Amino acid sequence: MKKIILDLDTGIDDALAIAYVLGSPDAELIGITGTYGNVLMEQGLANSLALTELLGHPEVPVFPGKTHALAQDGFAVSEASAFIHGRNGIGGVEVPASRRAAEKTPAVDFLIEAAHRLGDDLVYVPTGALTNLAAALRKDPSLSACLHVVMMGGALTVPGNVNAWTEANISQDPEAADEVFRSGTDVTMVGLDVTLQTLLTKQETGQWRALGTKAGNAYADIVDYYIGAYAKTAPYLGGCGLHDPLAAAVALDPTLVTCLAINMKVDTEGATRGRTIGDETRLNDAKKTMKVAVAVDTERFLSQFMERITKLLAAA
Ligand code: BDR
Ligand code: CA
Repeated sequence: MKKIILDLDTGIDDALAIAYVLGSPDAELIGITGTYGNVLMEQGLANSLALTELLGHPEVPVFPGKTHALAQDGFAVSEASAFIHGRNGIGGVEVPASRRAAEKTPAVDFLIEAAHRLGDDLVYVPTGALTNLAAALRKDPSLSACLHVVMMGGALTVPGNVNAWTEANISQDPEAADEVFRSGTDVTMVGLDVTLQTLLTKQETGQWRALGTKAGNAYADIVDYYIGAYAKTAPYLGGCGLHDPLAAAVALDPTLVTCLAINMKVDTEGATRGRTIGDETRLNDAKKTMKVAVAVDTERFLSQFMERITKLLAAA
């Protein structure tokens, strides 16, 4: 049984990551930490609270995180993010707001405490900007020796989705991502290389709607919005990318992907700012601290994804 912390900018695929972990018999979701990207951090917290409740898990604590990049004063949601995830982050679908409040403890403190207490039993899964993790490593550098991270973000063998070289989560805070990549922390990067090989269509969301449950209907509506956005922005794919739930799945079962062991960096200067690439200064280091997923067992992931989420949506 793995303990999982999801660090989310709760948009649509983040919502699927929540459902994947809650539907997994081999996982315990011990907390959700909030970040920004698809939505403002505060909207992400509200979405996480509402969705965990919709899915029948009001016990999951939600912690407030950083609201903007380390080197910036503020953050505004891009038009592209608002188009892909909807203005409220969940496709404009109305989900009953939670009466619970987020915890008082900041995300960074929750992460540091949990990592030291749980060690190898914990996997931290950031699926937005890496600002919370970089801030935690600044506050407690010893974290890098005990934390295991499986993150969604970056692109090594394919172009980015913000521009030709940058993926959205990395683009929000390239400095934070670079600090994390160079920190020596055990990080598995689940980027566009593999997440765009795992796609969902309306055939699958139709199965959720047919359940006739509140959660099944809501998730079908939310993901149909996302599939519609993908049909406009990337029609050649034929579905929507299951970015964040794939990272969650890899945290529970690393054999779903094939990885390249490599020391990575993020370009923070110049024309390629936001590019995730091998660090030439550590090319000859015998120790490789990162793994980058370059291939995925699509069929096995998709069947686990549908089995776990459909069961959860049927019961909620
Ligand atoms: C990533 O960016 C966000 O929009 C998604 O939730 C996902 O984590 C994909 O590039
Ligand atoms: Ca995300």
